[in-house]
Amino acid sequence: MNKLVINNLSKTFKIGNEFLEVFSKINLEINQGTNIGITGKSGSGKSTFLQIVASLDKPSSGEIFFNDNKFNQMKNDELSKLRLENFGFVYQFHHLLEDMTILENVLLPNQYNKSDKKFNNEEIFNLLEKVGLSERLHHLPWKLSGGEKQRAAIVRAIVNKPNFLFLDEPTGNLDESNAKSIQELLINLSKDLKFSLITSSHDIEFIKMMDLKYEIINRDLIYYD
Ligand SMILES: Nc1ncnc2c1ncn2[C@@H]1O[C@H](COP(=O)(O)OP(=O)(O)OP(=O)(O)O)[C@@H](O)[C@H]1O
Ligand SMILES: [Mg+2]
Repeated sequence: MNKLVINNLSKTFKIGNEFLEVFSKINLEINQGTNIGITGKSGSGKSTFLQIVASLDKPSSGEIFFNDNKFNQMKNDELSKLRLENFGFVYQFHHLLEDMTILENVLLPNQYNKSDKKFNNEEIFNLLEKVGLSERLHHLPWKLSGGEKQRAAIVRAIVNKPNFLFLDEPTGNLDESNAKSIQELLINLSKDLKFSLITSSHDIEFIKMMDLKYEIINRDLIYYD
């Protein structure tokens, strides 16, 4: 099974002459199949942490390993390939391509992926039905509600059967019953396909569904039960 190892990870933003230390010397090991939940106050660094661990941003110091591969020793194209084959990412604010329909958006990562480890078209239609988007396949994103776009972004992030699925407040725009059903779908998929969810959320009930729970407090990642 694959493994992510995070050693002494720190991030400081420089804004003008000021330095903002978001988190400092975080350590964490994530075995594929274990679901990780991260909560914390607004501004505590959850999105920043997820982006860095998913290799979409760089830390100020510290290291991240995917198995034996050290992110900061990999070339950009190697990192892109690693992400395409192993990671899925759902942004806090969706990032769908605005000139492509929902279906085209969802199928896009699938088309770039030359490996066999991915959902086929029929399975993707089933996923879209499960999240309630069957009637929306040929619409452009701007016609959809925030919650519908969020659901499309979730399906797009799983079409390649990622080993690690990063979710940044994935159900924040959804009403309670939609949020619950999407959360259960994500947990069930992660258990069936043996991948890891690495999710941030303010929704404590969602965090409780994870195997390991953490909170970012005072620039540190604190484990809680
Ligand atoms: N690109 C950036 N440049 C400067 N500061 C940034 C940048 N991105 C984030 N920050 C700052 O880093 C801190 C952490 O932001 P982050 O978005 O990670 O918090 P969060 O825990 O995800 O918050 P929320 O719960 O509101 O989503 C905030 O104070 C934010 O203003
Ligand atoms: Mg955030």
